[in-house]
Amino acid sequence: MRLDRFLAETTDLTRSLAKKALHRGEVSVDGEVVKNPATQVDASHKVTWNGQPLALVGLRYVMLYKPAGVECTARRTLYPRAIDLIALPKVERLQPVGRLDVDTTGLVLLSDDGQWSHRVTSPRHRCGKVYRVTLADPLEGAALEDAIARFAEGLLLDGEEKPTRPAELAMRAPEVAELVLYEGKYHQVKRMFAAIGHHVVALHRESIGPLSLGELPEGEWRELTAEEVAAF
Ligand code: URA
Repeated sequence: MRLDRFLAETTDLTRSLAKKALHRGEVSVDGEVVKNPATQVDASHKVTWNGQPLALVGLRYVMLYKPAGVECTARRTLYPRAIDLIALPKVERLQPVGRLDVDTTGLVLLSDDGQWSHRVTSPRHRCGKVYRVTLADPLEGAALEDAIARFAEGLLLDGEEKPTRPAELAMRAPEVAELVLYEGKYHQVKRMFAAIGHHVVALHRESIGPLSLGELPEGEWRELTAEEVAAF
């Protein structure tokens, strides 16, 4: 790739600032100062900027314990963004792999690997997402039996053309449900409970496929291991 692009990929410099740094003689390739932005380099070259070695970053995979009040979005809003909590270079390249609402807590995966993200989110791959759902009122007896059956069959949400895919509902307490979804429609959990006349007061995602938060504290993040990435 061109040297100015290499600099933009590996530092906070834009392409035009990279060209200026080159022009000032701040960049060396294999020990020689290089000023031409069109010079071709790859990972085999030793590129330094002001003496600091630069390396291309590979694909990255992160898990975050999202607190409430944080948004899974790339644009800047009123709220801090999930990527603002992650201290990695070029963090804006990471995309949430299935978003959580601003008031929802729990496991968010982020990556810049589009194919992997597709494997995690595509309903065809049947990667279960487990939610702990706290309801305003108890769900029990015949209403619970009915809800389990309707969620297992799939129900048509307002504004949707296709019913939800089969989902698994169980109760951990009269007001605390566990719901396993294999897809991710907009506000899906809240809308599914609204469809059966229940209001969700708190929502937490515990796991995505084989990954759960484990001991990760709220607001913290970590990169996935190679085994975790390969598990999807
Ligand atoms: N379903 C919702 O309603 N909200 C979320 O944040 C995730 C799933």
